[in-house]
Amino acid sequence: MRIFGIESSCDETAAAAVTDDREILSNVIYSQTLEHLAYSGVVPEIAARAHLEKIDLVVKKALADAELTVSDIDAVAGTCGPGLIGGVVVGATFAKAMSFSLGIPFIAVNHIEAHALCARLTNDVKFPYLLLLASGGHCQICVAHGIEQFEVIGKTLDDSVGESFDKVAKMMALGYPGGPIVEKLANNGNPDRFQLPRPLCSKDLLDFSFSGLKTAVRITIEKHISNEQDKADLCASFQRTVNDVLSYKMNAALCLCESRNIDLDAAVISGGVAANKSIRNSIQIICNKHDVRFCAPPINLCTDNGVMIAWNGVEKALANKFDNLDFRPRPRWPLKS
Ligand code: KG4
Ligand code: ZN
Repeated sequence: MRIFGIESSCDETAAAAVTDDREILSNVIYSQTLEHLAYSGVVPEIAARAHLEKIDLVVKKALADAELTVSDIDAVAGTCGPGLIGGVVVGATFAKAMSFSLGIPFIAVNHIEAHALCARLTNDVKFPYLLLLASGGHCQICVAHGIEQFEVIGKTLDDSVGESFDKVAKMMALGYPGGPIVEKLANNGNPDRFQLPRPLCSKDLLDFSFSGLKTAVRITIEKHISNEQDKADLCASFQRTVNDVLSYKMNAALCLCESRNIDLDAAVISGGVAANKSIRNSIQIICNKHDVRFCAPPINLCTDNGVMIAWNGVEKALANKFDNLDFRPRPRWPLKS
């Protein structure tokens, strides 16, 4: 079975073809970084227009790279939310139009679920598994029991972790998106230089809060940052703090799973922030401590891509879960439990 996937929920226009044998036939991503660079963040209207401009080229290339014609595709999956609705509508409508014109099934994909299931494609993870979903739009810990069965056991009360990386970069005028830039600068910085708060880490709570950390970074910038080394030190200190918070929460989540006798196949980190090597290492250390297998998709599949959408399509197709063409795109779409 060959499933074609289309992604357009934020600032990447992406398409891919994946088989039910876990073969990635193509993976095409057009990133809108340059379009949004001047604004240090994603401008929804610009994003929607850029998706519209690029989507047919991206789809054509994904078919050509896979050496497929449209008649070789068995079903088409499209992100239908959550995300910036103008962009979601572009990709979802394109996917529906392909489905209608080719007479093949349509699968409405939840973008967060696609991040959540990606490690089942790349690492053959089985249910149940513990999932830290850390992206630009979301930060939550779930126990993944099955397709469309995610038990959320911790979530952010304010910003997502990716958003906090982006805001820290913006406050220091480092560029956009912030995560990879902060990670790069942090490699040359001293993580012990600045003491930053680790919110909600004294209690047995699995929820996150990053807004206080962001404020502390702003105050530190005003007081102490005057040269490039200061910036690198702050990036390193910030990244260390995020690592500590995520590790603390994953440790607490693994303890909870142990107390409930949940036989986890693995602990997975996914979403754009999972591309961060030091965060991957920190979570790996916590997993080792609990004797739980650690998995993360390869770095290029952590940030938004069409492969995870196509794979979610495979999972839903195998479960015989198809959608009607009147499925309405959703700006908000929490994971189902
Ligand atoms: O999953 P994603 O591509 O889009 C959403 O679904 O939100 O995640 C994008 C987020 C951005 O906030 C970006 O700064 C962050 O992931 N990110 C990183 C890294 N690469 C991307 N954060 C930390 N370190 C990275 N290397
Ligand atoms: Zn994403």
